[in-house]
Amino acid sequence: MKTLILNGSPRKNGDTAALVSQLAAQLKGEVRVIDCCSDNISPCSDCRACRTLPCCPVNDGMQEIYTALSECENVVIASPVHYAELSAGLLKAAGRFQVYSSALIFRHEALPTAAKRGAIILAQGGSGGAERAFETAKLIFMSIGIKDVLPPVISPNTDRLAAADDPQAAEAVGRLAAALSE
Ligand SMILES: Cc1cc2nc3c(=O)[nH]c(=O)nc-3n(C[C@H](O)[C@H](O)[C@H](O)COP(=O)(O)O)c2cc1C
Repeated sequence: MKTLILNGSPRKNGDTAALVSQLAAQLKGEVRVIDCCSDNISPCSDCRACRTLPCCPVNDGMQEIYTALSECENVVIASPVHYAELSAGLLKAAGRFQVYSSALIFRHEALPTAAKRGAIILAQGGSGGAERAFETAKLIFMSIGIKDVLPPVISPNTDRLAAADDPQAAEAVGRLAAALSE
């Protein structure tokens, strides 16, 4: 089993990273964690080249994600909640999944992804809820061909309890690792 974890937190050692580390340590098989906030990932410019080309012509860190998506059965979206949404970094990378929408809509080709199962990890510690971020993550999963989305893991009060010290989140991560390793 191969798992791709997309981390949308700008904080290298933050709450999301803590939950991602816990998950990666428990997952069976190959695990690849990619930092979506990397400067080496550009946003989609809607150049529309992928309406005819079978890939995105922008040669940057996204190419690693495209390759991973062609190999990984599990995909995990991990993000802090920012203004009740997924982080800007996560949305920046997901915008480049436009190449998959173009495959279906304009090129009439099957999706070149192996992804079958999706999971969502969210860290939040403010007033905007996580529901919208969860809904957006499900839309992103649909764009890469994933319909099977597991229940989200949320560390909900990181302003008072860091995700790394949140026992309920740790339990939920354990359940998620077991489900993704099946
Ligand atoms: C710009 C910004 C917006 C935020 N918006 C929300 C929000 O809408 N709801 C919420 O619960 N927390 C919000 N937070 C708090 C973060 O979700 C919280 O601190 C989270 O644990 C950070 O995770 P990280 O350390 O992985 O980046 C926001 C934080 C920032 C920096």
